[in-house]
Amino acid sequence: MTSRKPKVIATRHFPPDVEKRLSASFEALLNSEDKLYDGPALIKASAGYEGIMCAAGDPMNAETIAGLPASVRIISTFSVGYEHVDVAAAAKRGIVVSNTPDVLTDATADIALLCLLGAARRAHEGTTMLRTHNWVGWEPTQLMGTHVTGKRLGILGMGRIGQAVADRARAFRMTIHYSNRSRLPADLEKGATFHANPDDMLQHCDFLSINAPMTPATRKWVNAERIAKMPQGAIVVNTARGGVVDDEALISALKSGRLAAAGIDVFDGEPKINQGYYDLVNAFLLPHMGSATVETRNAMGFKALDNLEAYLISGKTPPDLVKAS
Ligand code: DGY
Repeated sequence: MTSRKPKVIATRHFPPDVEKRLSASFEALLNSEDKLYDGPALIKASAGYEGIMCAAGDPMNAETIAGLPASVRIISTFSVGYEHVDVAAAAKRGIVVSNTPDVLTDATADIALLCLLGAARRAHEGTTMLRTHNWVGWEPTQLMGTHVTGKRLGILGMGRIGQAVADRARAFRMTIHYSNRSRLPADLEKGATFHANPDDMLQHCDFLSINAPMTPATRKWVNAERIAKMPQGAIVVNTARGGVVDDEALISALKSGRLAAAGIDVFDGEPKINQGYYDLVNAFLLPHMGSATVETRNAMGFKALDNLEAYLISGKTPPDLVKAS
């Protein structure tokens, strides 16, 4: 007799190897066309499903969660960030939530360095000049950017990704400052300067890298007042969440030259980003690609599946359980 496989609905089209394992372990409803579910459609489609494998941007808010059928027992998000899931609302319904920490640290830190270098070295202007056939040849004053080596980098949020950004920046002999909820032990701090109050760090930031999660406390944290505390011509890098930045303030500082440039991979309200970014030549912009390597997306998917399998098949606590704060 074969035992019944638990039923799992995938809200997005996931990498092929991930969907293969999803279908092997579960009676899975895939979303091969990657059609976006809104809340009511997801509630309807989840009828009879025990697990939901979702992703960043899905509408797993309190309203959707309140309407989910009683069959749903776990929401496993294919992401480290889980601000799109109302964990407290899920707890109220007895639904557990899990995420995929650790596996996207390196890929995201790599993109942070790409953003940092792309912004500092005017990569957007350079590639545009070349691809629009406007490059007339090497010039002594052409596209002079900001030197990176030896500069000071302030990191807001020194978790796994922040630390990986610091490690990479040390290869550029950058001096590391950081602010975090708690100070790191010396072996992880590696000589970086800790600022208990993140505002005190800003004056030291030739570069500021945002690696903090989106929470009510970090919402629009980079605002006009804080930008004013940074050195003239500083550079802002955001690979965490767009909502940590006040877009209007950042755009205005980039327009005026108060900030020299920005390297941004994540946007508030993405994909409908603030239109002001499109006009800025000194903004190096990427479409939320921090974790976009085959290896990383597979690892994220396998982690999301480990969580689903632990809970729905083995009856164990998911290894990456997210607790309501
Ligand atoms: C995450 O996992 O939170 C990422 O932003 C998605 O790439």
